[in-house]
Amino acid sequence: MGFNLFNFLSQDIAIDLGTANTLIHVKGKGLLLNEASVIAVRQADHQIVAVGNAARTMWGKTPEGILTVRPMKDGVIADFELAELMIKRFIKQLQLRQWMHPRMAISIPSGITEVERRAVRDSGEHAGARQVYLVEEPMAAAIGVGLPVDEPIGSMVVDIGGGTTEIGVTALSGLVTKISIRIGGDEMNDAVVQHFKKRHSLLLGDLQAEQIKMDIGSAYPYKSDKTMSVRGRDLISGIPQTVEATAKEIQEALEEPVLAIVEAVRLALEKTPPELSADILERGIIMTGGGSLLRGIDVRLRQETQVPVSLAEDPLTAVVRGVGLVLDDIDRYQKILNLRLRR
Ligand SMILES: Nc1ncnc2c1ncn2[C@@H]1O[C@H](COP(=O)(O)OP(=O)(O)OP(=O)(O)O)[C@@H](O)[C@H]1O
Ligand SMILES: [Mg+2]
Repeated sequence: MGFNLFNFLSQDIAIDLGTANTLIHVKGKGLLLNEASVIAVRQADHQIVAVGNAARTMWGKTPEGILTVRPMKDGVIADFELAELMIKRFIKQLQLRQWMHPRMAISIPSGITEVERRAVRDSGEHAGARQVYLVEEPMAAAIGVGLPVDEPIGSMVVDIGGGTTEIGVTALSGLVTKISIRIGGDEMNDAVVQHFKKRHSLLLGDLQAEQIKMDIGSAYPYKSDKTMSVRGRDLISGIPQTVEATAKEIQEALEEPVLAIVEAVRLALEKTPPELSADILERGIIMTGGGSLLRGIDVRLRQETQVPVSLAEDPLTAVVRGVGLVLDDIDRYQKILNLRLRR
């Protein structure tokens, strides 16, 4: 390919537009943004009050007239207008050369519809991209953790995000098996909220539930007598109340979403052609995404599938690193992007 000044000067950007977190990698500069996928706006005119982590801290605490919104749900755009505002603001924060329209690669869940794909593409274009590439999340995760996706070798990744769990088997630049379920960390948080409602008649906020999950939650009956003081609003009396929660009860509360993930991995293994299964059995499953940090989920998966399981080094950034690598070498990954090479 000839030297192209436009491509040389432009700052290509890779985006992992996640349900919980948005990460942006800029070519030649690295990971420049890692923020919660949250936007707070004034209800009357949709003026931005805050975005990212700053907006997340306002979750459930905003005064009347201010909305705190997570525009992504289950891995896809749930609120177009606010998603676009959020992305634009994030990109503005990068302070790229204003006059250059970048190429953008954005990760998407593997199970999404054509309409949902279009919505992501449109958002990228409205945010100023001159070209938008879409990379399926399990493929991005596999590339991000350095699996040999373009070789005739089967590799399995399990990415547990906030909104979805994506399971993919890669070989010869394709996703031979892919399963996407709309269950992830958000459902685990919901399960904790429901548990406290039922067992303790206590109303918790989402952020509190998430903290409990991270602090004492687990996917495996490990030996722990850890407890945690949890403060919430008593559903009956309406006044603040404190209860002592045990690791065991949180593990039980998380069982439903955890089991759904285990079942999905089992199904993916069943659907995988035997030659590739042999590779996976030998090389193991790699886990990425924030949900893979749930205590014991790797042990649990290994126990239930009899396949070795390991956790990626930096599970929360695997997808964006993968998308960044695709952008760095579009020629190499053209098959993944379903592109025909223009030479
Ligand atoms: N230590 C931990 N234990 C359990 N869960 C965790 C931990 N750390 C982060 N998480 C969960 O990981 C999820 C966020 O992960 P991640 O950033 O990979 O999701 P995402 O990419 O935004 O979502 P998706 O890919 O589904 O669109 C949240 O639900 C968060 O609660
Ligand atoms: Mg993700």
